[in-house]
Amino acid sequence: MTMLSINNMGKVFDSNKGEVTALEDINLTVDRGELAVIVGPSGCGKSTLLNIVAGLEQATSARPCSEASPSPGLARTGAWSSSPTRSFPG
Ligand SMILES: Nc1ncnc2c1ncn2[C@@H]1O[C@H](COP(=O)(O)OP(=O)(O)OP(=O)(O)O)[C@@H](O)[C@H]1O
Ligand SMILES: [Mg+2]
Repeated sequence: MTMLSINNMGKVFDSNKGEVTALEDINLTVDRGELAVIVGPSGCGKSTLLNIVAGLEQATSARPCSEASPSPGLARTGAWSSSPTRSFPG
């Protein structure tokens, strides 16, 4: 059963340096009981993605849906973030 579904999601930040595209055309499906790990270089959008899944940020286009709630604020979906430099030293 699908627990989390993300379809063509994007996030653009408005900053004082202009628009920053943090996420573009993101697609992800996580089934119940499945462990998903987001890995990538610094600045690729890992924290932004997890913040949107956790309901702390709003996506600019589309938004995640979970079995618990088809709207932001996904209370039953857990997300934890760690710096890759701390996880994978050297
Ligand atoms: N509040 C914000 N305002 C403007 N730009 C932002 C904001 N938050 C993130 N960004 C930009 O969005 C992009 C993705 O950032 P994000 O923090 O999600 O990456 P990350 O993969 O978590 O990086 P790291 O591995 O260093 O934690 C980067 O270009 C970042 O500069
Ligand atoms: Mg991060």
